[in-house]
Parts: sequence; structure tokens; C-alpha cells
Amino acid sequence: MAKREIVKFGEDVLRQKCEEVTEFNEELWELLDDMYDTMMEANGVGLAAPQVGVLKRVVVIDVDDDNGTIELINPVITRMTGKQNGTEGCLSYPNKYGYVQRPNKVRVKALNRYGKPVEYRGTELLARAFCHEIDHLNGILFSDKVTEWVEEEK
Ligand code: NI
Repeated sequence: MAKREIVKFGEDVLRQKCEEVTEFNEELWELLDDMYDTMMEANGVGLAAPQVGVLKRVVVIDVDDDNGTIELINPVITRMTGKQNGTEGCLSYPNKYGYVQRPNKVRVKALNRYGKPVEYRGTELLARAFCHEIDHLNGILFSDKVTEWVEEEK
């Protein structure tokens, strides 16, 4: 169990395109475990590797549903349908929330930590999380897509 420091907006590492993972080894598993611990500690529902300074296509998501913790290696969105408009935040933007339009249903293909193909379907919050975290792997931040910011709470 180890927590890593979350990179905040403004850091260049958040704007890089991440590399595909080719080795499914202890180093990857440690990264995934640390990302999970870091996300939980920060009360987040998703975290992408560049947010802990690692430029690899690795995501963890846990929206507290039946899927439990989802680990995505080299994820690709294969289908998007519908629309949702709601507030979104990011662990790299403490206390910042804004409205972002996302697809309402998303299908994702990826590999698990052992390199085996997995597929997930997400609606609403999970669909939003898939889109948000996969954007991170391409250096895209939610702030790029915010249509209206929510007033900061004290
Ligand atoms: Ni984020």
C-alpha cells in the first residue's frame, strides 16, 4: 500500500500523450495498486497514470457500483451513444467543478493487469469516468471541455 503524489494542473506531464503498456509485470501491478490507494485516499472515482507522473496508458476507476474497481490498460472507447450534461471534477483540480457534456453510454475495450482483454459498458457516471480518464491518457483535461464552471465552495 502506497500513496503517490497527485500532479496538479499546470504541470506539463498532464499534457503529454501516454505510451502503450507492453509489459505486464510487478512494476505495472505496483503502479495500479498505488493508483488505487491514491484515488481512495483522495476520495476520487478515477485516476489516470499521468496524474501520478507516469506516462503510461493506465487507468483505475471505482464508482462504487457492481463492477468494483476497474483497471484499464491501453483502453479504447469502441462505442459512444447518447448525451449527458453534468458536473465533473478532477483530482488534479482541487475544488474545481464544471459542466461537461459526455456520451451517456460508453463501451471500452482494454487489457487487465495480466494482459488479458476485457470489455466494459458504462452508463451515466461510469461512462463519464471512462471518457474523463481516457482523455487524460491523451493529454486532454476536463477543463478543455467545461462549458460552465461551478462557483467554488468555501
Ligand atoms: Ni482527472
